[in-house]
Amino acid sequence: MKFLLILSCIITFNSLAFSQPYELLTNVSHRKTISLNGEWRIIIDPYENGYYDYRYKPRGDGYFQNKKPKDKSDLVEYDFDKSETLEVPGDWNTQKDKLFFYEGTIWYEKSFNYVKKNNKRIFLYFGAVNYSAIVYLNGIKLGEHIGGFTPFDFEVTNIIKSGKNFIVVKADNKRLREGVPTLNTDWWNYGGLTRGVFLIAEPKTFIQDYFIQLKKGSTDEINGWIKLNGNNKKQRLTLQIPDAGVVKEFYSNNSGIAKLNFNAKLKLWSPKNPYLYQVKIICETDTIEDNIGFRSIETKGNKILLNGKPIFLRGISIHEEAPFRSGRAYSKEDAVTLLTWAKQLGCNYVRLAHYPHNEFMVREADKLGLMVWSEIPVYWTIQWNNKGTLANAENQLTEMITRDKNRASIIIWSMANETPRSNERNAFLESLIDKAKNLDPTRLITAATELDQQGKTMIIDDSLSNYLDVIGVNEYLGWYAAKPVDVPKFKWISKFNKPVIISELGAGALYSYHGDKDTRWTEEYQANVYKNQIKMLKKISFLSGMSPWILMDFRSPRRPLPYIQDFWNRKGLISNRGEKKEAFYVLQNFYNKLQSK
Ligand code: GCU
Repeated sequence: MKFLLILSCIITFNSLAFSQPYELLTNVSHRKTISLNGEWRIIIDPYENGYYDYRYKPRGDGYFQNKKPKDKSDLVEYDFDKSETLEVPGDWNTQKDKLFFYEGTIWYEKSFNYVKKNNKRIFLYFGAVNYSAIVYLNGIKLGEHIGGFTPFDFEVTNIIKSGKNFIVVKADNKRLREGVPTLNTDWWNYGGLTRGVFLIAEPKTFIQDYFIQLKKGSTDEINGWIKLNGNNKKQRLTLQIPDAGVVKEFYSNNSGIAKLNFNAKLKLWSPKNPYLYQVKIICETDTIEDNIGFRSIETKGNKILLNGKPIFLRGISIHEEAPFRSGRAYSKEDAVTLLTWAKQLGCNYVRLAHYPHNEFMVREADKLGLMVWSEIPVYWTIQWNNKGTLANAENQLTEMITRDKNRASIIIWSMANETPRSNERNAFLESLIDKAKNLDPTRLITAATELDQQGKTMIIDDSLSNYLDVIGVNEYLGWYAAKPVDVPKFKWISKFNKPVIISELGAGALYSYHGDKDTRWTEEYQANVYKNQIKMLKKISFLSGMSPWILMDFRSPRRPLPYIQDFWNRKGLISNRGEKKEAFYVLQNFYNKLQSK
């Protein structure tokens, strides 16, 4: 009895003390890190036996203890050391055939040796775990995280030891009605530790986060803040932008926050000239560097202005599907491959759908000069009245903006995709929009809204657009509706004097399947849809951009058609093996003409 009492105290203390993920560290690639990537031991646990006892109550002796039999008669019914492995980062579905359709819990374990230094604080950082994660270090619960596409971290300074340590993660990709996304998506539910895992060592007081961007509507006034984390909050800080001749001093306040506001003569970031400045922040106890571009983005009537000039967004939508090998993309190479294809297409903009992609994508977009639409997975029919669902969406939004707010490439935050009209939906999304504007007053806000159709007239009148800076609409004329030949006859009306982006349009085709242009799934059919779409789009006066669906074929559980789809959405302009379809060249030709204007 006494033992159970002590045990329950320990469990309560642990869950209370570390229940919330720690404040997010940003710009991890410029911090002192130790990679925990590579092979991790796993236990596949569809019944969550490692977490719940036979009464379905959380157990004290779960797999997180990574227990070993004390002696030959001791009973321990799992053993990570003898268990199979998975690579991290990486989804589990494409690493083992038996896990291709698997949705549930998999326990990950990683043992590592560490040399502790007393003057350092240590954080454990995850790039992303799909969908929920419960994290333990040396058997102690650090906390939980929900949301499969944003980073989180925990401070482990007082738990990590010199010598042998072990991390255990309960990852679970079960789809939930109250989830974000919810039960139904048109992408594969890749599970696991899908992005990198790192230990980060920091001084006692360190530079945790900063926001250094141009003030809304300005091309020479930098506005922002720097946040210190630690006891030594009040410090003198120096911000250096050597190539712009900037050396500025600031002082942080009792909360460790230093406000920034100053003028500077800057080379502005743009697709034609994606100039990134080396930026250095120095305080008395820490230094950090980053590469940051400066550009202004705003709207005027139905125009989008980049650096004060109207710009048309020549885009393409992209899923975080790995080129050539399939599975969740995660590497710099994946990002460079996908974004280089977008550049070859003639793009100056990409829509990263329908969730925040890995940080390599946005940092490579910074370098390649591709403007970015970044989105949280509020997709289709979310539980609008569920407070937990809203809090979850707000948390994912916060983590997305926190991680990427210094990326010049990101011009638009998207709150949602194809959500059904209702007052509850509007209220839910209005909260997200307020939060986004609060976290980042510099960027544009959008969503892929609902369309009305009367005969051959498409009407943009979703009331959600009253709260948006830019209106996104998805339309599949020539594929889900209307014959390709009729597409150019469609007229468009917008009830708003705001920029409109056709955030999706397209058609499916199996690479190398050829036939006449009326035969579905042939490259000729897809190309014909694009030709007719382009004729229609040219006539829309208030159109400010487009991101056809989609750059590359991607896996989807909603696409079983044998010999054509085989669980691939085939609307890519490029096959998953990197083969360009005829429609790729139709769109490339259009974009090249637009550029030469
Ligand atoms: C929708 C949706 C996409 C989906 C696409 C399709 O509009 O936003 O996620 O993949 O259409 O049907 O291919």
